Amino acid sequence: MDKIRIRGGNPLRGSITVGGAKNAALPLMTAALLTDETLTLTNLPILADINTLCNLLLQHGVAIHMQGAGGAVDRRVVEFTARDITNTTAPYDLVRKMRASVLVLGPLLARCGEATVSLPGGCAIGARPVDLHIKGLQAMGAEIEIESGYIKAKAPAGGLRGAEYIFPKVSVGATENLLMAATLAKGTTVLVNAAREPEVTDLAECLVKMGARITGIGTDRLTIEGVDRLHGAKHMVVADRIETGTYAMAAAITGGELDILNTNLDLIKAAVTALSPAGVAFTEIENGVRVSRANGALHGVDVMTEPFPAFPTDLQAQMMALMCVADGASMITETIFENRFMHAPELMRMGAKITVHGSSALVRGVERLTGAPVMATDLRASVSLVLAGLAASGETTVNRVYHLDRGYERLEEKLAACGADIERVRGEED
Ligand code: EPZ
Repeated sequence: MDKIRIRGGNPLRGSITVGGAKNAALPLMTAALLTDETLTLTNLPILADINTLCNLLLQHGVAIHMQGAGGAVDRRVVEFTARDITNTTAPYDLVRKMRASVLVLGPLLARCGEATVSLPGGCAIGARPVDLHIKGLQAMGAEIEIESGYIKAKAPAGGLRGAEYIFPKVSVGATENLLMAATLAKGTTVLVNAAREPEVTDLAECLVKMGARITGIGTDRLTIEGVDRLHGAKHMVVADRIETGTYAMAAAITGGELDILNTNLDLIKAAVTALSPAGVAFTEIENGVRVSRANGALHGVDVMTEPFPAFPTDLQAQMMALMCVADGASMITETIFENRFMHAPELMRMGAKITVHGSSALVRGVERLTGAPVMATDLRASVSLVLAGLAASGETTVNRVYHLDRGYERLEEKLAACGADIERVRGEED
Protein backbone atom coordinates (compact mmCIF):
# COMPACT_ATOMS: atom_id res chain seq x y z
CA MET A 1 0.00 0.00 0.00
CA ASP A 2 1.27 3.47 -0.89
CA LYS A 3 2.36 5.90 1.82
CA ILE A 4 3.08 9.60 1.81
CA ARG A 5 6.28 10.76 3.43
CA ILE A 6 6.64 14.40 4.46
CA ARG A 7 9.54 16.29 5.98
CA GLY A 8 7.81 19.30 7.50
CA GLY A 9 8.76 22.91 7.97
CA ASN A 10 8.76 24.38 4.45
CA PRO A 11 6.39 27.33 3.91
CA LEU A 12 4.33 26.70 0.77
CA ARG A 13 4.68 29.27 -2.01
CA GLY A 14 3.27 29.20 -5.52
CA SER A 15 0.00 28.28 -7.14
CA ILE A 16 -2.23 25.24 -7.00
CA THR A 17 -5.05 24.51 -9.42
CA VAL A 18 -8.20 23.03 -7.94
CA GLY A 19 -10.24 20.43 -9.83
CA GLY A 20 -13.95 19.89 -10.25
CA ALA A 21 -15.72 18.89 -7.04
CA LYS A 22 -15.87 15.16 -6.41
CA ASN A 23 -19.14 15.59 -4.54
CA ALA A 24 -20.68 17.45 -7.47
CA ALA A 25 -19.27 15.14 -10.13
CA LEU A 26 -20.73 11.98 -8.58
CA PRO A 27 -24.42 13.05 -8.62
CA LEU A 28 -23.93 14.70 -12.03
CA MET A 29 -22.70 11.40 -13.44
CA THR A 30 -25.78 9.58 -12.10
CA ALA A 31 -27.99 12.23 -13.74
CA ALA A 32 -26.89 10.73 -17.06
CA LEU A 33 -29.22 7.81 -16.26
CA LEU A 34 -32.21 10.14 -16.66
CA THR A 35 -31.88 10.53 -20.43
CA ASP A 36 -31.15 8.42 -23.50
CA GLU A 37 -29.07 11.29 -24.90
CA THR A 38 -25.47 12.18 -24.06
CA LEU A 39 -24.56 14.13 -20.93
CA THR A 40 -21.12 15.70 -21.38
CA LEU A 41 -19.29 16.72 -18.22
CA THR A 42 -16.23 18.94 -18.32
CA ASN A 43 -13.79 19.67 -15.47
CA LEU A 44 -14.34 16.13 -14.18
CA PRO A 45 -11.75 15.28 -11.52
CA ILE A 46 -9.71 12.11 -11.99
CA LEU A 47 -10.16 10.27 -8.72
CA ALA A 48 -10.68 6.75 -7.44
CA ASP A 49 -14.33 7.51 -6.55
CA ILE A 50 -15.04 8.71 -10.08
CA ASN A 51 -13.64 5.42 -11.47
CA THR A 52 -15.78 3.45 -9.02
CA LEU A 53 -18.93 5.21 -10.20
CA CYS A 54 -17.90 4.75 -13.86
CA ASN A 55 -17.75 0.99 -13.20
CA LEU A 56 -21.23 1.06 -11.67
CA LEU A 57 -22.69 3.10 -14.56
CA LEU A 58 -21.05 0.79 -17.13
CA GLN A 59 -22.82 -2.21 -15.68
CA HIS A 60 -26.15 -0.34 -15.87
CA GLY A 61 -25.46 -0.02 -19.61
CA VAL A 62 -24.11 3.53 -19.76
CA ALA A 63 -21.55 4.14 -22.51
CA ILE A 64 -18.66 6.29 -21.26
CA HIS A 65 -16.34 8.09 -23.59
CA MET A 66 -13.40 10.05 -22.24
CA GLN A 67 -12.25 12.78 -24.64
CA GLY A 68 -9.14 13.63 -22.65
CA ALA A 69 -7.62 12.96 -19.26
CA GLY A 70 -4.87 15.56 -19.35
CA GLY A 71 -4.21 18.43 -16.99
CA ALA A 72 -6.17 21.25 -18.65
CA VAL A 73 -9.69 21.78 -17.42
CA ASP A 74 -11.18 21.84 -20.90
CA ARG A 75 -9.64 18.44 -21.63
CA ARG A 76 -11.32 16.72 -18.68
CA VAL A 77 -14.30 15.98 -20.86
CA VAL A 78 -16.27 12.78 -20.40
CA GLU A 79 -19.46 11.79 -22.22
CA PHE A 80 -22.04 9.58 -20.55
CA THR A 81 -24.76 8.04 -22.73
CA ALA A 82 -27.48 5.88 -21.15
CA ARG A 83 -29.24 5.06 -24.41
CA ASP A 84 -30.58 1.77 -23.05
CA ILE A 85 -30.42 0.88 -19.40
CA THR A 86 -29.66 -2.82 -19.49
CA ASN A 87 -29.60 -3.53 -15.77
CA THR A 88 -31.38 -1.77 -12.89
CA THR A 89 -29.45 -3.48 -10.09
CA ALA A 90 -26.56 -1.80 -8.26
CA PRO A 91 -24.71 -4.71 -6.68
CA TYR A 92 -23.22 -4.83 -3.19
CA ASP A 93 -19.67 -5.35 -4.49
CA LEU A 94 -19.69 -1.95 -6.17
CA VAL A 95 -21.91 0.00 -3.72
CA ARG A 96 -19.85 -1.05 -0.68
CA LYS A 97 -16.80 0.63 -2.21
CA MET A 98 -18.53 3.99 -2.29
CA ARG A 99 -21.71 5.11 -0.53
CA ALA A 100 -22.51 7.75 -3.18
CA SER A 101 -23.47 4.81 -5.45
CA VAL A 102 -26.90 5.04 -3.80
CA LEU A 103 -27.46 8.12 -6.00
CA VAL A 104 -28.39 5.79 -8.89
CA LEU A 105 -31.60 4.90 -7.00
CA GLY A 106 -33.67 8.00 -7.83
CA PRO A 107 -32.65 8.23 -11.52
CA LEU A 108 -33.12 4.48 -12.20
CA LEU A 109 -36.51 4.42 -10.51
CA ALA A 110 -37.69 7.54 -12.36
CA ARG A 111 -36.50 6.37 -15.79
CA CYS A 112 -37.10 2.59 -15.59
CA GLY A 113 -39.85 2.32 -12.97
CA GLU A 114 -37.77 -0.01 -10.84
CA ALA A 115 -34.39 -0.22 -9.14
CA THR A 116 -32.60 -2.64 -6.85
CA VAL A 117 -29.74 -0.97 -5.02
CA SER A 118 -27.56 -2.47 -2.32
CA LEU A 119 -27.78 -0.73 1.05
CA PRO A 120 -24.42 0.98 1.52
CA GLY A 121 -23.99 -0.03 5.18
CA GLY A 122 -22.12 1.95 7.83
CA CYS A 123 -19.03 4.05 7.35
CA ALA A 124 -16.03 5.05 9.48
CA ILE A 125 -17.43 8.53 10.18
CA GLY A 126 -20.95 7.50 11.19
CA ALA A 127 -23.91 5.16 10.67
CA ARG A 128 -25.08 7.19 7.66
CA PRO A 129 -28.52 5.66 7.08
CA VAL A 130 -30.40 6.23 3.80
CA ASP A 131 -33.88 6.33 5.36
CA LEU A 132 -34.60 9.83 4.03
CA HIS A 133 -33.85 8.78 0.45
CA ILE A 134 -36.34 5.92 0.90
CA LYS A 135 -39.07 7.95 2.67
CA GLY A 136 -38.90 10.70 0.06
CA LEU A 137 -39.29 8.24 -2.80
CA GLN A 138 -42.17 6.54 -0.93
CA ALA A 139 -43.85 9.95 -0.68
CA MET A 140 -43.67 10.00 -4.49
CA GLY A 141 -45.59 6.74 -4.62
CA ALA A 142 -42.70 4.25 -4.80
CA GLU A 143 -43.12 0.87 -3.17
CA ILE A 144 -39.91 0.04 -1.38
CA GLU A 145 -38.85 -3.06 0.50
CA ILE A 146 -35.55 -3.97 2.08
CA GLU A 147 -34.64 -7.52 1.13
CA SER A 148 -31.36 -9.37 1.62
CA GLY A 149 -29.45 -6.12 2.11
CA TYR A 150 -30.97 -4.48 -0.97
CA ILE A 151 -33.39 -1.59 -1.46
CA LYS A 152 -36.01 -2.95 -3.88
CA ALA A 153 -37.97 -0.05 -5.31
CA LYS A 154 -40.90 0.02 -7.77
CA ALA A 155 -42.68 3.06 -9.14
CA PRO A 156 -46.51 2.95 -9.28
CA ALA A 157 -48.18 2.24 -12.63
CA GLY A 158 -47.87 5.45 -14.60
CA GLY A 159 -44.61 6.42 -12.86
CA LEU A 160 -43.55 8.40 -9.80
CA ARG A 161 -45.95 11.13 -8.68
CA GLY A 162 -45.02 14.63 -7.59
CA ALA A 163 -45.33 15.16 -3.81
CA GLU A 164 -44.32 17.50 -1.02
CA TYR A 165 -41.51 16.09 1.10
CA ILE A 166 -40.26 17.88 4.20
CA PHE A 167 -36.79 16.67 5.15
CA PRO A 168 -36.70 16.14 8.95
CA LYS A 169 -32.94 16.71 8.68
CA VAL A 170 -30.83 18.30 5.95
CA SER A 171 -29.31 15.64 3.70
CA VAL A 172 -27.19 16.36 0.64
CA GLY A 173 -27.53 12.90 -0.90
CA ALA A 174 -31.26 12.52 -0.23
CA THR A 175 -31.93 15.97 -1.71
CA GLU A 176 -29.98 14.96 -4.83
CA ASN A 177 -31.73 11.60 -5.20
CA LEU A 178 -35.22 13.11 -4.82
CA LEU A 179 -34.40 16.06 -7.05
CA MET A 180 -33.35 13.73 -9.86
CA ALA A 181 -36.35 11.42 -9.37
CA ALA A 182 -38.75 14.38 -9.36
CA THR A 183 -37.60 15.67 -12.75
CA LEU A 184 -39.40 12.77 -14.48
CA ALA A 185 -42.33 12.38 -12.03
CA LYS A 186 -45.92 13.23 -12.92
CA GLY A 187 -46.85 16.61 -11.45
CA THR A 188 -45.11 18.92 -9.03
CA THR A 189 -42.69 17.97 -6.26
CA VAL A 190 -41.75 20.36 -3.47
CA LEU A 191 -38.66 19.55 -1.41
CA VAL A 192 -38.72 21.49 1.85
CA ASN A 193 -35.66 21.87 4.10
CA ALA A 194 -33.59 20.73 1.14
CA ALA A 195 -29.78 20.84 1.22
CA ARG A 196 -28.32 24.03 -0.31
CA GLU A 197 -24.73 22.86 -0.79
CA PRO A 198 -23.10 24.23 -3.99
CA GLU A 199 -22.94 20.64 -5.25
CA VAL A 200 -26.76 20.37 -5.05
CA THR A 201 -27.06 23.68 -6.88
CA ASP A 202 -24.64 22.46 -9.56
CA LEU A 203 -26.75 19.33 -10.07
CA ALA A 204 -29.97 21.37 -10.29
CA GLU A 205 -28.40 23.70 -12.87
CA CYS A 206 -27.29 20.74 -14.97
CA LEU A 207 -30.76 19.18 -14.75
CA VAL A 208 -32.28 22.45 -16.00
CA LYS A 209 -29.89 22.32 -18.98
CA MET A 210 -31.23 18.79 -19.58
CA GLY A 211 -34.79 20.14 -19.74
CA ALA A 212 -35.89 19.82 -16.10
CA ARG A 213 -38.21 22.48 -14.65
CA ILE A 214 -36.84 23.48 -11.25
CA THR A 215 -37.31 26.66 -9.25
CA GLY A 216 -35.83 27.70 -5.92
CA ILE A 217 -32.32 26.57 -6.92
CA GLY A 218 -29.84 27.55 -4.20
CA THR A 219 -32.58 27.75 -1.55
CA ASP A 220 -33.91 25.17 0.91
CA ARG A 221 -37.18 24.87 -1.00
CA LEU A 222 -36.92 23.25 -4.41
CA THR A 223 -39.98 23.01 -6.64
CA ILE A 224 -39.80 20.57 -9.52
CA GLU A 225 -42.43 20.23 -12.23
CA GLY A 226 -42.00 16.81 -13.77
CA VAL A 227 -41.47 16.52 -17.52
CA ASP A 228 -41.91 13.50 -19.84
CA ARG A 229 -38.30 13.29 -20.86
CA LEU A 230 -34.93 14.95 -20.40
CA HIS A 231 -32.37 15.48 -23.13
CA GLY A 232 -28.58 15.66 -23.40
CA ALA A 233 -26.52 18.63 -22.19
CA LYS A 234 -22.99 19.84 -21.56
CA HIS A 235 -22.06 20.97 -18.08
CA MET A 236 -18.90 22.05 -16.28
CA VAL A 237 -18.45 20.58 -12.79
CA VAL A 238 -18.26 23.30 -10.11
CA ALA A 239 -14.85 23.86 -8.45
CA ASP A 240 -14.07 21.75 -5.42
CA ARG A 241 -14.65 23.99 -2.38
CA ILE A 242 -13.22 21.38 -0.02
CA GLU A 243 -10.02 21.07 -2.02
CA THR A 244 -9.90 24.90 -2.06
CA GLY A 245 -10.32 25.09 1.72
CA THR A 246 -7.78 22.32 2.27
CA TYR A 247 -5.07 24.16 0.31
CA ALA A 248 -5.99 27.42 2.05
CA MET A 249 -5.27 25.71 5.34
CA ALA A 250 -2.04 24.26 3.91
CA ALA A 251 -0.87 27.83 3.18
CA ALA A 252 -1.90 28.92 6.66
CA ILE A 253 -0.39 26.02 8.60
CA THR A 254 3.00 26.39 6.88
CA GLY A 255 3.05 30.20 7.11
CA GLY A 256 3.33 30.45 3.32
CA GLU A 257 1.31 32.06 0.54
CA LEU A 258 -0.63 30.21 -2.13
CA ASP A 259 -2.62 31.27 -5.15
CA ILE A 260 -5.42 28.74 -5.39
CA LEU A 261 -6.74 28.77 -8.95
CA ASN A 262 -9.87 27.69 -10.84
CA THR A 263 -12.01 28.37 -7.79
CA ASN A 264 -13.59 31.33 -6.04
CA LEU A 265 -14.06 32.92 -2.62
CA ASP A 266 -17.86 32.56 -2.70
CA LEU A 267 -17.53 28.79 -2.42
CA ILE A 268 -15.58 28.99 0.85
CA LYS A 269 -17.29 31.91 2.60
CA ALA A 270 -17.84 29.99 5.84
CA ALA A 271 -14.18 28.97 5.97
CA VAL A 272 -13.13 32.57 5.31
CA THR A 273 -15.40 33.74 8.14
CA ALA A 274 -13.82 31.22 10.51
CA LEU A 275 -10.22 31.65 9.39
CA SER A 276 -10.01 35.44 9.12
CA PRO A 277 -10.10 36.04 12.89
CA ALA A 278 -7.60 33.17 13.21
CA GLY A 279 -5.10 35.31 11.27
CA VAL A 280 -5.47 33.93 7.75
CA ALA A 281 -5.72 36.49 4.94
CA PHE A 282 -7.78 35.84 1.80
CA THR A 283 -7.62 38.01 -1.32
CA GLU A 284 -9.65 37.55 -4.46
CA ILE A 285 -7.37 37.25 -7.51
CA GLU A 286 -8.12 36.57 -11.16
CA ASN A 287 -9.57 33.05 -11.42
CA GLY A 288 -8.93 32.25 -7.77
CA VAL A 289 -7.97 33.14 -4.23
CA ARG A 290 -4.66 34.17 -2.61
CA VAL A 291 -4.19 32.85 0.91
CA SER A 292 -1.48 33.74 3.43
CA ARG A 293 -0.99 34.35 7.13
CA ALA A 294 -1.98 37.95 7.83
CA ASN A 295 0.54 38.90 10.52
CA GLY A 296 2.51 35.79 11.21
CA ALA A 297 0.66 34.34 14.17
CA LEU A 298 -2.34 32.02 14.13
CA HIS A 299 -5.02 32.37 16.81
CA GLY A 300 -7.38 29.75 18.17
CA VAL A 301 -11.01 30.19 17.04
CA ASP A 302 -14.14 28.11 17.61
CA VAL A 303 -16.03 26.43 14.78
CA MET A 304 -19.14 24.32 14.50
CA THR A 305 -19.93 22.22 11.44
CA GLU A 306 -23.42 22.61 10.01
CA PRO A 307 -25.13 22.26 6.63
CA PHE A 308 -24.27 24.87 3.97
CA PRO A 309 -23.89 27.85 4.16
CA ALA A 310 -22.25 27.18 7.56
CA PHE A 311 -18.82 25.61 8.13
CA PRO A 312 -18.58 22.27 6.27
CA THR A 313 -17.93 18.99 8.05
CA ASP A 314 -15.57 18.10 5.18
CA LEU A 315 -13.15 20.84 6.39
CA GLN A 316 -13.40 20.04 10.08
CA ALA A 317 -10.39 17.71 10.27
CA GLN A 318 -8.18 20.16 8.35
CA MET A 319 -9.32 22.98 10.67
CA MET A 320 -8.39 20.87 13.67
CA ALA A 321 -4.88 20.32 12.31
CA LEU A 322 -4.52 24.08 11.86
CA MET A 323 -5.77 24.85 15.35
CA CYS A 324 -3.20 22.42 16.80
CA VAL A 325 -0.48 25.01 16.10
CA ALA A 326 -2.49 28.20 16.86
CA ASP A 327 -1.99 30.47 19.87
CA GLY A 328 -4.62 29.69 22.49
CA ALA A 329 -7.51 27.28 22.47
CA SER A 330 -10.15 26.30 19.94
CA MET A 331 -13.44 24.46 20.38
CA ILE A 332 -14.40 22.39 17.36
CA THR A 333 -17.93 20.99 17.33
CA GLU A 334 -19.08 18.41 14.79
CA THR A 335 -22.86 18.27 14.34
CA ILE A 336 -23.18 16.31 11.06
CA PHE A 337 -21.48 12.96 11.70
CA GLU A 338 -21.28 11.18 15.04
CA ASN A 339 -17.79 9.73 14.64
CA ARG A 340 -15.72 12.27 12.76
CA PHE A 341 -12.87 12.90 15.20
CA MET A 342 -10.71 9.93 14.29
CA HIS A 343 -7.90 12.24 13.29
CA ALA A 344 -7.69 13.59 16.88
CA PRO A 345 -5.77 10.63 18.37
CA GLU A 346 -3.46 10.58 15.34
CA LEU A 347 -2.78 14.32 15.68
CA MET A 348 -2.07 13.70 19.39
CA ARG A 349 0.60 11.21 18.35
CA MET A 350 2.26 14.19 16.67
CA GLY A 351 2.20 16.19 19.91
CA ALA A 352 -1.20 17.92 19.56
CA LYS A 353 -3.15 18.69 22.75
CA ILE A 354 -6.76 17.71 22.11
CA THR A 355 -9.54 16.68 24.47
CA VAL A 356 -12.64 15.18 22.89
CA HIS A 357 -15.97 15.37 24.75
CA GLY A 358 -18.78 13.85 22.70
CA SER A 359 -19.31 16.04 19.66
CA SER A 360 -16.80 18.71 20.71
CA ALA A 361 -13.02 18.76 20.71
CA LEU A 362 -11.01 21.26 22.72
CA VAL A 363 -7.71 21.94 20.98
CA ARG A 364 -4.94 23.71 22.91
CA GLY A 365 -2.38 25.05 20.49
CA VAL A 366 1.26 23.92 20.78
CA GLU A 367 4.40 25.63 19.45
CA ARG A 368 5.25 22.80 17.07
CA LEU A 369 4.04 19.35 16.12
CA THR A 370 6.56 16.54 15.67
CA GLY A 371 6.56 14.09 12.77
CA ALA A 372 5.32 10.53 13.32
CA PRO A 373 3.92 7.56 11.40
CA VAL A 374 0.12 8.07 11.31
CA MET A 375 -2.97 6.67 9.62
CA ALA A 376 -6.61 7.56 9.33
CA THR A 377 -9.74 5.82 8.23
CA ASP A 378 -11.31 8.43 6.00
CA LEU A 379 -10.48 10.95 3.32
CA ARG A 380 -10.59 14.25 5.19
CA ALA A 381 -8.95 12.82 8.31
CA SER A 382 -6.07 11.61 6.13
CA VAL A 383 -5.53 15.01 4.53
CA SER A 384 -5.55 16.68 7.95
CA LEU A 385 -2.57 14.48 8.83
CA VAL A 386 -0.80 15.62 5.66
CA LEU A 387 -1.37 19.25 6.73
CA ALA A 388 -0.04 18.48 10.20
CA GLY A 389 2.98 16.77 8.63
CA LEU A 390 3.72 19.86 6.50
CA ALA A 391 3.98 21.95 9.66
CA ALA A 392 5.68 19.38 11.91
CA SER A 393 9.36 19.09 12.61
CA GLY A 394 10.90 15.87 11.33
CA GLU A 395 9.35 13.15 9.22
CA THR A 396 5.69 12.12 9.02
CA THR A 397 4.50 9.05 7.16
CA VAL A 398 0.80 8.95 6.32
CA ASN A 399 -0.38 5.40 5.74
CA ARG A 400 -3.45 4.23 3.82
CA VAL A 401 -3.05 6.77 1.07
CA TYR A 402 -5.94 5.18 -0.85
CA HIS A 403 -8.27 7.32 1.26
CA LEU A 404 -6.56 10.45 -0.10
CA ASP A 405 -6.73 9.15 -3.66
CA ARG A 406 -10.52 8.95 -3.36
CA GLY A 407 -10.81 12.73 -3.18
CA TYR A 408 -7.55 14.58 -3.86
CA GLU A 409 -6.01 14.44 -7.30
CA ARG A 410 -2.18 14.40 -7.35
CA LEU A 411 -2.06 15.92 -3.87
CA GLU A 412 1.64 15.29 -3.31
CA GLU A 413 2.60 16.66 -6.75
CA LYS A 414 0.61 19.85 -6.18
CA LEU A 415 2.16 20.42 -2.75
CA ALA A 416 5.70 19.52 -3.87
CA ALA A 417 5.47 22.06 -6.71
CA CYS A 418 4.95 24.73 -4.01
CA GLY A 419 7.98 23.74 -1.99
CA ALA A 420 6.72 20.95 0.27
CA ASP A 421 9.15 18.11 0.94
CA ILE A 422 6.63 15.38 0.23
CA GLU A 423 6.75 12.15 -1.74
CA ARG A 424 4.69 9.07 -2.40
CA VAL A 425 6.34 5.83 -1.39
CA ARG A 426 4.84 3.14 -3.58
CA GLY A 427 3.77 -0.32 -2.70
CA GLU A 428 5.13 -0.89 0.80
CA GLU A 429 3.05 -2.87 3.29
CA ASP A 430 1.57 -1.14 6.36
C1 EPZ B 1 -22.39 14.20 1.42
O1 EPZ B 1 -22.64 12.93 2.01
C2 EPZ B 1 -20.94 14.19 1.01
N1 EPZ B 1 -20.71 13.12 0.07
C3 EPZ B 1 -20.05 14.05 2.23
O2 EPZ B 1 -18.70 14.15 1.81
C4 EPZ B 1 -20.35 15.19 3.20
O3 EPZ B 1 -19.60 15.01 4.38
C5 EPZ B 1 -21.84 15.20 3.54
O4 EPZ B 1 -22.63 15.28 2.32
C6 EPZ B 1 -22.25 16.37 4.42
O5 EPZ B 1 -21.93 17.57 3.81
C7 EPZ B 1 -21.07 13.27 -1.21
O6 EPZ B 1 -21.59 14.30 -1.62
C8 EPZ B 1 -20.78 12.14 -2.14
P1 EPZ B 1 -25.83 13.75 4.17
P2 EPZ B 1 -24.14 12.46 2.30
O7 EPZ B 1 -26.92 12.87 3.62
O8 EPZ B 1 -25.00 12.96 1.21
C9 EPZ B 1 -27.82 11.83 8.07
C10 EPZ B 1 -16.39 13.60 1.85
O9 EPZ B 1 -15.45 13.58 2.69
N2 EPZ B 1 -28.73 11.12 7.14
O10 EPZ B 1 -25.96 15.22 3.96
O11 EPZ B 1 -24.10 11.02 2.56
C11 EPZ B 1 -26.37 11.36 7.94
O12 EPZ B 1 -26.14 10.19 8.68
C12 EPZ B 1 -17.77 13.10 2.16
O13 EPZ B 1 -16.22 13.99 0.68
C13 EPZ B 1 -29.77 10.39 7.67
O14 EPZ B 1 -29.97 10.31 8.89
O15 EPZ B 1 -24.43 13.24 3.63
C14 EPZ B 1 -25.62 12.57 8.44
O16 EPZ B 1 -25.60 12.55 9.84
C15 EPZ B 1 -17.90 12.38 3.43
N3 EPZ B 1 -30.61 9.73 6.81
C16 EPZ B 1 -26.48 13.74 7.96
O17 EPZ B 1 -27.78 13.19 7.69
C17 EPZ B 1 -30.45 9.80 5.46
O18 EPZ B 1 -31.25 9.18 4.73
C18 EPZ B 1 -25.99 14.43 6.69
O19 EPZ B 1 -25.69 13.45 5.72
C19 EPZ B 1 -29.39 10.56 4.93
C20 EPZ B 1 -28.54 11.22 5.80
